[in-house]
Amino acid sequence: MAFSKASVRDADVKGRRVLVRVDFNVPLKDGEVVDDTRIRAALPTLELLRERGAALVLASHLGRPGGEAVPELSMAPVAARLEELLGVNVTLAPKVIGAEVEMAAGCLGPGEIVLLENTRFEPGETKNDPMLAGSLAALANVYVNDAFGAAHRAHASTEGVAQHLPGYAGLLLEREVSELTKVVEDPVRPLVVVLGGAKVSDKVGVIDRFLDVADQILIGGAMCFSFFKAQGKEIGSSLFDEESVEAAREALAKAAESDCELTLPVDLVLGREFSADTERKELDGIEVPEGWMGLDVGPKTGALYAAAVAGAGTVLWNGPMGAFEMEPFAGGTRAVAEAVAAASGKTVVGGGDSVAAMVEFGLADRVDWLSTGGGASLELLEGKKLPGVEALIDAKVPAPDGDQEDQ
Ligand code: 3PG
Repeated sequence: MAFSKASVRDADVKGRRVLVRVDFNVPLKDGEVVDDTRIRAALPTLELLRERGAALVLASHLGRPGGEAVPELSMAPVAARLEELLGVNVTLAPKVIGAEVEMAAGCLGPGEIVLLENTRFEPGETKNDPMLAGSLAALANVYVNDAFGAAHRAHASTEGVAQHLPGYAGLLLEREVSELTKVVEDPVRPLVVVLGGAKVSDKVGVIDRFLDVADQILIGGAMCFSFFKAQGKEIGSSLFDEESVEAAREALAKAAESDCELTLPVDLVLGREFSADTERKELDGIEVPEGWMGLDVGPKTGALYAAAVAGAGTVLWNGPMGAFEMEPFAGGTRAVAEAVAAASGKTVVGGGDSVAAMVEFGLADRVDWLSTGGGASLELLEGKKLPGVEALIDAKVPAPDGDQEDQ
């Protein structure tokens, strides 16, 4: 299904002020941006708008400050990084809305940029307060949403503002929706989905959807223990939660009726506790002894999953296979990451942690599509509508006589 929303490419922006919602919710350490993937991903839209003579008012949230100004979550480090990447001056507004911000936005010339302070410093942001949405809209004439990672949130800067201004999809948002939708609706087969992470309950919608459309689902990460628990296996002190065990039970029942193969690990790497220097051992099989916890899938599983990825026409990977941030437990995630990088089929990686793994292993540029969305990509894959996308104006349907505009 083609993307049905109007694109920033079709917006008339020359000499106008454009409010661009970006997802600059990036990891910070000691006041600096440690991974600028999301900032880089927004550059094509920002460059396009500047080339076309728009003045840019950028808005993003950063972390979860809970509706008050938290200095550690200021956008200042983001403004500095964006300035380096674009090579132009980026002014940081002192607030999200208000007279000073209106003044800063009002003074912008074509190609100039002001970045608003963290939208979540305003209590109305997450409540989708119409007053805040109206004040944001008053800063510009056109709205562009390029914040795919936040498009599942119906917040003032992602949804409410589009009730006041004509809203267009940014290039990143458009591409994200198209790439992820294609995995579900029109994949080259076999479609192999690798799912990891902590909780089955977070991914139950995705598992359910892919049991209908995928050829194989490979499960790793701590969520496999909810499956093993549901199968009555011993899991020692491995992480699990009751809600996820129930979800896993339902997924196993559905898988038994489905054409999709649901594959669980065949071996594990265990630790005494959740720590990089804990005692470690490999377990061939699954029954985890008392006093041990599973912290990674084992080498046999890594090889099995890598082979499935190698044979796939399309691979979707979401969620690490183990506690890869601790080197002794990174093997399973690395095996999958390397297999994804080497795969000849189409590869799509989504979710903050698996993307972080690809970046950490230096393999990020060997993936066909690296999604900037965590929750947003999961909700889209589940088949849910994203409020930040729905609020945008619809694309014009081409005239039936073939009298189409620029192709
Ligand atoms: C993300 O990091 O997934 C997005 O920026 C959304 O952030 P949130 O989960 O705090 O809404």
